[in-house]
Amino acid sequence: MARILAIESSCDETAAAIVGDETHVLSSVVASQLSVHGKYGGVVPELASREHLRAIVPVVDEALAQAALRWRDLDAVAATYGPGLAGSLLVGLTYAKAAAFAAGIPLIAVNHIEGHIHAVILEARQRGEPVALPALALVVSGGHTHLFEVRRDGSYARLGRTRDDAAGEAFDKVAKLLGFGYPGGPVIDRIARHGNPEAIRFTIAKMKGNALDFSFSGLKTAVLRWVENNHLDAEIAARRELLQRNPAPSNDEWLEVTPPRTRDLIASFQRTVVNELVGHAIAAADQVEGVSSLIVSGGVACNSALRGAATARAIGLPVHFPSPGLSTDNAVMIAAAAFPKFRRGEFAPLTLAAEPNLQLAGHP
Ligand code: KG4
Ligand code: ZN
Repeated sequence: MARILAIESSCDETAAAIVGDETHVLSSVVASQLSVHGKYGGVVPELASREHLRAIVPVVDEALAQAALRWRDLDAVAATYGPGLAGSLLVGLTYAKAAAFAAGIPLIAVNHIEGHIHAVILEARQRGEPVALPALALVVSGGHTHLFEVRRDGSYARLGRTRDDAAGEAFDKVAKLLGFGYPGGPVIDRIARHGNPEAIRFTIAKMKGNALDFSFSGLKTAVLRWVENNHLDAEIAARRELLQRNPAPSNDEWLEVTPPRTRDLIASFQRTVVNELVGHAIAAADQVEGVSSLIVSGGVACNSALRGAATARAIGLPVHFPSPGLSTDNAVMIAAAAFPKFRRGEFAPLTLAAEPNLQLAGHP
């Protein structure tokens, strides 16, 4: 069995995993930095690289221990080399290069976004129902909002992307503005279930140029206006105070300081984002000849409203989501994306540099 150890450190998770023969997850370790960044309402790059430095050795050791393997049992080391935060990428990539050199095994360079897509491909294979290609992939996370065509030969074409904020970033910014902690997606998802998504009509202007591109910054401004016009200062202060007292409030604790109109605001905001994502995915599917499935991946793929809407509206196309553990950043997805490269002998030189703005593919 070919075994690849993969390392992911592009943002605020230090992760290592060992996967055998494309689908056998032998170990997976994720050290989250949420407790470090939470109080700042977002990821602080300097703190992130410091935390990666602290975590990288124990996380890789733990991945080897969980799998009961040693370096000499491995066939390759894979690492994310972009896109992401420069200082964060550097820690994982440098460690991977040194480890590959010391163990005398090849290095495989993986694009983080390709990893998110392969998380879904791996799990579908595990279930014995492989993703039919060509597929349309909607990658939605804190840093990315992209629509890709995933071709049979393993290549990609970018059909759309965000011009400003990523979808997850919109969730995080609106949550921060309303006094909820970071990350904002999960708490908005839970509170939205208690609000009326039809209460407030937000509109997103049609894109000039590529109609499949996204823009979420106007929506964020519209939410800000609504908050100002409705004088939410007191309840926002109450939520910030709750977060000071308790870094991880329960649903009931959040609901106690979130009146019905704010629950409606949150549900309406979420519905607008979800409609935009699913609407664009459906429009993009028309542009891919022979499209056989829809992949939705990245942290925002955890969103329950998005899951519901994508499944309900993608008529005729099977829709594949990753399980929650493989939706947010992890190293199993990096190993999964590395396997086709391993089979093709596509190895990276030890001079490989981190590329914070790495693209997966251009517009066709
Ligand atoms: O993939 P990920 O872990 O990191 C990046 O590559 O960015 O995604 C993190 C993002 C955050 O913006 C977070 O708010 C969002 O995913 N997220 C969600 C949910 N769970 C996580 N957004 C909406 N609904 C959720 N349930
Ligand atoms: Zn990610």
